[in-house]
Amino acid sequence: MTKPSVLFVCLGNICRSPLAEAALRKAAADAGLVIDIDSAGTADYHVGKAPDPRSVAEAAAFGVDISHLRARQVTANDFRRFDFIYALDHSNLRDLQRIAPADATATLALVLDAVPGREGAPVADPYYGGEEDFRATREDVYAAARAIVTALSA
Ligand code: 4NP
Repeated sequence: MTKPSVLFVCLGNICRSPLAEAALRKAAADAGLVIDIDSAGTADYHVGKAPDPRSVAEAAAFGVDISHLRARQVTANDFRRFDFIYALDHSNLRDLQRIAPADATATLALVLDAVPGREGAPVADPYYGGEEDFRATREDVYAAARAIVTALSA
């Protein structure tokens, strides 16, 4: 089987999607699964910036360093390059559906659709929140990452 590829997409690519990327790196490594993993944002506000320090701290709890990541905006080619594109919330999913090129091959879904019992739920935006909100983001994206690994291992 070719290496599966997964892209996580939030608004800014500085809070949730870099942390989702870290969670999947951890879950894949623990399962011995090789996955091509990346993240991007629908907006260009933070392009070139490092992840929010609060997301860097949460990723460190997985033993994953994301401090070197730099925000980028999702591109039309992402829809051809990745097998799965997971939106963090409904607004991100709507934006992705709107910009998807006609020849998109990626499967689009909400990231928590991967978690039994949490289908249709968003990962709340922690940007204006506190540490507890970033911890909740970590727990959500780790649940999703483990479910994605289980699905890709089947
Ligand atoms: P993210 O969080 O989409 O999880 O990276 C946000 C980052 C920036 C903004 C909003 C959410 N912003 O409004 O600048």
